Amino acid sequence: MTEYTADLVLRGGTVVTGNARFCADVAIKDGLIAAVGAPGTMPAATAVVDVTGKWVLPGAIDVHVHFREPGYTHKEDWGTGSAAAAMGGTTTVFEMPNTHPPTRSAAELRAKQDAARKSHVDFGLYGLLAEDNLEELEGLVAAGANAFKCFMGNTFGNLPSPSTGAMLEAFEILAKHGLRISLHAEEFSIMARRTQRLAEAGRNAPLDHLKARPAIVAVEAVGRAAALAEWTGARVHVLHISSAAELRPLAEAKARGVDITGETCPCYLLLNSGDYERLGSVIRVNPPVREASDSEAIWHALRNGLVDMIATDHAPHTPEEKTQAVIWQADCGFPGVETQMPLMLTEVSKGRLTIEDYARISAEAPARSFGLWPMKGRIAPGAHADIAVVDPTRREVVRASALHSRGRVTPFEGHEITGVPIHTLVRGRFVQRDRQLVAESKGWGRQVTDIQRMPPAQPVNADLGINVLAPRPRKDAA
Ligand code: NCD
Ligand code: ZN
Repeated sequence: MTEYTADLVLRGGTVVTGNARFCADVAIKDGLIAAVGAPGTMPAATAVVDVTGKWVLPGAIDVHVHFREPGYTHKEDWGTGSAAAAMGGTTTVFEMPNTHPPTRSAAELRAKQDAARKSHVDFGLYGLLAEDNLEELEGLVAAGANAFKCFMGNTFGNLPSPSTGAMLEAFEILAKHGLRISLHAEEFSIMARRTQRLAEAGRNAPLDHLKARPAIVAVEAVGRAAALAEWTGARVHVLHISSAAELRPLAEAKARGVDITGETCPCYLLLNSGDYERLGSVIRVNPPVREASDSEAIWHALRNGLVDMIATDHAPHTPEEKTQAVIWQADCGFPGVETQMPLMLTEVSKGRLTIEDYARISAEAPARSFGLWPMKGRIAPGAHADIAVVDPTRREVVRASALHSRGRVTPFEGHEITGVPIHTLVRGRFVQRDRQLVAESKGWGRQVTDIQRMPPAQPVNADLGINVLAPRPRKDAA
């Protein structure tokens, strides 16, 4: 028999993994899962919480959130964004660099680490990969960047997209470190020309946003980035997959052995072109919500693993920024980190996805792809006790006014949900309990750098030998 006293036992629930569900108790000690076993076999515990009839899921790992701090804290900050995550059953987020200033250098990453000190949940931080910061990439890695973000096309923040040449050199540098490069995979020039032509023709309705960004922008970008990844050995990740068409270059790259993963977001699964009239400018997001046939193809790819994971692209803006008569003036994106799990569990309740699939796409796959496995993404002894306890039958209605994000405009307003996270634990501590935020958990979140394992990738055709990337003197060198 075990001789320790657990800090907490979750008793009577159904533990879910990526390929199984079973009735088991879960014992937690010192922030880790100490034991998972048949009901009644757990050690003595300081506290026991009955979770009979509930699902015990690995907390969601969302590799795509925008928490806006520093620079746009009227939209969100690390306190509000991470509170929304805690309420939504999300225990780790990876936060994007299109803040102000953008996260382009080690100093800017350190400023973001400071802002993130108030996080309720664990986090990774993205460094920016841009045309003019190649000499900063090594410094960003050393300062603790957990992944990199490359904006191949224009989106909120108006960060210029890097040339293919700069991308190649950046991929060569980052392949040596193994960290994954996440791509906003929309080709810039196609969108710029189309947007200009539409605007000049006086077209400014919500659906014109979709017209300005046909799926070829994603096909081109995924194909090109995959070629660079294949050439250099760099690991890449396709953010917010929105179209059936881009699944083909993704599948082809995977078949060639490129280390490429992909995510989609609830809006691309649950909304389509038929929703533009109803939602108006609120639906504006990059890439755009497309046709019902695109959603169907992405659902299929999510079930069979071609699309590896679900993320949210949590992108809060104020009501004024979202509701504009001229579509080109409305900010793109909407909050999602609090609604992802309920929305997806509702689809599980409808039989569109199994709960095991959900554990795979929400936790296991992101943990594996971003080097957090085996410490996160699973409910097993030795792993962090990052857990979402879900009531699969609880029904609620999405109300923007009840969200914890500061940007309370969502296209899912009024959406009926079945299945809600009723407790969220991060490293053994409740950050949400009985649908209430645990205020004292503010600041409990930790950066994942110490547990992240991303071994160097195998450089394939890197040109490093000819020294095009010889270190240049740093701008701030004395
Ligand atoms: C995001 C934002 O607002 O930061 N907006 C969006 O439409 N998705 C940026 C992004 O991820 O493209
Ligand atoms: Zn994006």
